[in-house]
Amino acid sequence: AKPEPLKIIISGAPASGKGTQCELIKKKYGLVHIAAGDLLRAEIAAATENGKRAKEYMEKGMLVPDEIVVTMVKERLLQPDAQENGWLLDGYPRSLSQATALEDLGIRPDLFILLDVSEGILIERVVGRRLDPLTGKIYHLKYSPPENDEIAARLIQRFDDTEEKVKLRLKTHHQNVEAVLSIYKDVMLKVNGDAPIEDVFAEIDKALSSILEKKSKTDSSS
Ligand code: AP5
Repeated sequence: AKPEPLKIIISGAPASGKGTQCELIKKKYGLVHIAAGDLLRAEIAAATENGKRAKEYMEKGMLVPDEIVVTMVKERLLQPDAQENGWLLDGYPRSLSQATALEDLGIRPDLFILLDVSEGILIERVVGRRLDPLTGKIYHLKYSPPENDEIAARLIQRFDDTEEKVKLRLKTHHQNVEAVLSIYKDVMLKVNGDAPIEDVFAEIDKALSSILEKKSKTDSSS
């Protein structure tokens, strides 16, 4: 039988590299990438009531209220593709109440990855970040520049990617992070996120393959 699929949470400060690593993990392991921030931006783009409310909080760098986020993420996690292929939860849970909501549903990850990045680097990463609206790919003007002029010409910036707003987002992160970490201490992998993209991925890759190997052993011995 197929081993149980991987269930992974990735966390870290704003612009610590979560989305970048998720692209690489998804490509190699075929997990379903569920990013709370992307789900919220999709609600904003669709001009739903939840989207309108969420934007007010996101513009202030604050957490969007649980009554919007908790159900939104839960519904996505329980979809058949995520259950069958495994999931990679990005930017959730971000508070004790969100972590408790997952625990109450009996949802626990195999691994909780924490990208640890120095504060000075975070600001530079936010200000230089650009997105390709066509492919969704994340770029950085200095660290991960677009491949050609055509892509460069269509890149956009996120509305909350200014130095002023990232400072507010960082403050919110610091207020909540310890409470979330306390729940996942036993499955935590802290990675030095200051390192180049490939080095960060190499460390994550090693941990994921070792978990998969253990899972397949347990499965074949049962
Ligand atoms: P969200 O969209 O999740 O934003 P965030 O946590 O601030 O994280 P980012 O997407 O900014 O960064 P990232 O870590 O993915 O970094 P990236 O890979 O792009 O949330 C936005 C808002 O939504 C929140 O403020 C909140 O209001 C709301 N929200 C979201 N989740 C919520 C929740 N659970 N509850 C309530 N509200 C919620 O990398 C950044 C840049 O650096 C890129 O340009 C990249 O190319 C570059 N880069 C990446 N890695 C490296 C590296 N190793 N070396 C050099 N450059 C690198």
